[in-house]
Amino acid sequence: MKEKVEKIKVELKASLEGNISIQDLANIKAEYLGKKGKITELSNQLKDLSNEEKKEFGKSLNEIKTYAISLIDEKSKSIEEAILNEKLEKEKIDISLPGVTVKNGAPSMIEGLIESLEELFLSMGYDVVEGPEVEKDLYNFELLNLPKGHPARDAQDTFYIKDEEILLRSQTSPVQIRTMLSNEDKSSIRIICPGKTYRRDDDDATHTHQFTQMEGLLIDKGISLADLKGTLDIIAKYLFGEKTETRFRSSFYPFTEPSVEFDVSCHACSGKGCPICKHTGWITVGGAGMVHPKVLTNCGYNPDIVSGFAFGFGIERLAMLKYGVTDARTFYTNDLRVNPDRREV
Ligand code: DAH
Repeated sequence: MKEKVEKIKVELKASLEGNISIQDLANIKAEYLGKKGKITELSNQLKDLSNEEKKEFGKSLNEIKTYAISLIDEKSKSIEEAILNEKLEKEKIDISLPGVTVKNGAPSMIEGLIESLEELFLSMGYDVVEGPEVEKDLYNFELLNLPKGHPARDAQDTFYIKDEEILLRSQTSPVQIRTMLSNEDKSSIRIICPGKTYRRDDDDATHTHQFTQMEGLLIDKGISLADLKGTLDIIAKYLFGEKTETRFRSSFYPFTEPSVEFDVSCHACSGKGCPICKHTGWITVGGAGMVHPKVLTNCGYNPDIVSGFAFGFGIERLAMLKYGVTDARTFYTNDLRVNPDRREV
């Protein structure tokens, strides 16, 4: 009997070694502990033994039963653990892989620039004002000191909607007129007016029949050209960096006197001269000047009491300079790759 028990012990241990499946383990369990299992069969032989032998053999039978159960339990645990590890290994998420890029919408270069300039001007106490794109000749030209037949109208030929009175605005300057007229307080104004403008131009790399302007107007007591220069300097530094300088060149606009064109030092070559600034070191950004007394009077302001400055620039031109866009038509071709905010890194 004793030998039999020992033999079973050795056999069981050997059969549990190595790589076996859960099913194999169940079979082994049945082979030893099942109804007809080797250990169960030994227990059945107990009844044929003498009392003395029963005592001794019963003990070793119990031992082998406990031994078999714990050995099989242990194996069962290690098989389950191996299965779990294999599963974990297979289903592992490799977080070191780059994620899938989610393409978000972003403002166009034009819209982005407008928003950023609005932020700047709002911080300086300006209001953002909009006006209609279909405008009266009266506001687009006449009250701006550009009567019918004025030669300065030639540069701003536009699309007429009805006779010669209703047109697509050729500049954002009529928003100055609208605001001045509707403003009850005739002592001060501080506005910027971004928006679409139109001209009867043939499209090429630097002209588009539709484009965007931003107008600025400030009226108060004692406003001088120095205030205009300071304001434009802030815009230039904001857009092109702290080292940017601003200069005025005298110019002509019927609605300002004196009138200037304002240039910024070339951000690409820091004013040394390069193809972007046509080797002059300067880039023209827009027009400006002191609001003409006639325009003030036209809108109910007293030029003896208040004065003001105004400026206007093209947003596409700024975007071309800032983002290195070489063809203005790019802004209207809907090619998403050109928007710097959308470029994938
Ligand atoms: N409206 C002008 C244009 O389209 C730009 C401009 C020049 C606006 C001088 C102004 C100004 O307000 O004062 O060319």
